[in-house]
Amino acid sequence: MHQSQFKDFNVSASRYGPMKEVLGQGIFTTEGHAWKLNRGLLRPYFSKGHVLSIDKVEHHVDNLIAQIPKDASPVNFQKLAFDFTMDVITEFLFGRSVNTLSSTDPALQKFADTLDSAEDLMGQRARCGFFYPLVKTRSLKKKAKVIHEFVDSCIQDAATALAENNLAKNHDSKRDTTENATDNFPTQREDVVSDLLTRTSDFKQIRDNLMALIIAGRDTSAASMSMFFYEVSRQPAIWDKLQQEVISNFGTENRPDVSEARRLKYLRQVYDETLRMYPPLAWNPRVAVDDICLPTGGGPTGDEPLLVRKGTLVAFSAWALHRDKETFGPDAETFVPERWDKLSGLDWSHFIPFGGGPRRCIGQEFALNVATFTIVRLLQKFSGVKNVDPTPFQEDLGITLASEHGVHLAFTSREDRK
Ligand code: HEM
Repeated sequence: MHQSQFKDFNVSASRYGPMKEVLGQGIFTTEGHAWKLNRGLLRPYFSKGHVLSIDKVEHHVDNLIAQIPKDASPVNFQKLAFDFTMDVITEFLFGRSVNTLSSTDPALQKFADTLDSAEDLMGQRARCGFFYPLVKTRSLKKKAKVIHEFVDSCIQDAATALAENNLAKNHDSKRDTTENATDNFPTQREDVVSDLLTRTSDFKQIRDNLMALIIAGRDTSAASMSMFFYEVSRQPAIWDKLQQEVISNFGTENRPDVSEARRLKYLRQVYDETLRMYPPLAWNPRVAVDDICLPTGGGPTGDEPLLVRKGTLVAFSAWALHRDKETFGPDAETFVPERWDKLSGLDWSHFIPFGGGPRRCIGQEFALNVATFTIVRLLQKFSGVKNVDPTPFQEDLGITLASEHGVHLAFTSREDRK
């Protein structure tokens, strides 16, 4: 479905229908030519060298750290992680973060809260398959209006800034005719929306793609970071090993270089093990565009070919694939980062946290950079973390997978130990 039979399955029927009110026709919900245009439009922002400068992430990490109690009192880390990724993604896209972690502006809070509840609704609708129109369409439309008003105002602000810059450019070029005079134009802004405005005049295409990036990028990153801490807070030996690796490489104060941090082997293994056990996109539906034959899945043992009729909704589960004992061994249900010592060359058809084939996640490098930097900073700042939630894990399946009860932790600040 990802690669060799990519063209036999369609995402627009399983995503566009239940999510169109909010997502319109951006990269996440389109197919064929329209999808290719959207992907081509967005790809440059995720190529090496263009991914969000970590300078812009750093103060959001500081805001996150500021919200964590330093005296080991409990905090719902999952809630903070969702706020944090919202702040980062809006900074990247709009050049203006909603700053949910630090701001008390009711307009920003309303946007963030409405987006959260719209995502829940879209997840519910997607799970109802072809019956999605029966699930709260009017409520979703109302939420879409609030969300779009905010996003449209960001696009408008960027358009105004761009127009002012162009005026300044014309003015300057009359005064200064040297070759380098207009080096910093057109926008002097590095956010995605400003650049998109220089590449297309289709306002709706810009909005729909910005919405796709928020929905695809924000919860996935937050869920992976919070499940990372969910697991390490339950296994002190893993926490100690991570501390040792981070502190021996960066100390407790030095700002880590992202490319060096990405080479931390054990941290990557713990993150991969998190993505294995809790793939943020745990479940992914497609619709067959024709009568097709899958190589296996039929017959009494499931080893024979399987006929799938045109229009059938077929979901694949990264959750189930990642817990397959044949690939991961008899302890596949247990969190063991060290298993990656032997699995590093694993074929992507067994491990698909970022999908695969032509629709593979466009934001993988961005997500890994932000998560790695943030986790290193937290390991530098805090000497200990404990789970304070007695309830067992229960999944909350919206569009992405998270913990139903949140992730309740108690951190110990390094300074408190001195
Ligand atoms: C840990 C974090 C992330 C995970 C686990 C993840 C996972 C995925 C997966 C599995 C897909 C493939 C969907 C499919 O085949 O149907 C996908 C697609 C996508 N992701 Fe991510 N993602 C993450 C972060 C991000 C970020 C940070 C962004 C952008 C800021 C992003 C943007 C996208 C987009 C736009 C698509 C659609 C690509 C297309 O249809 O061509 N993702 N992601």
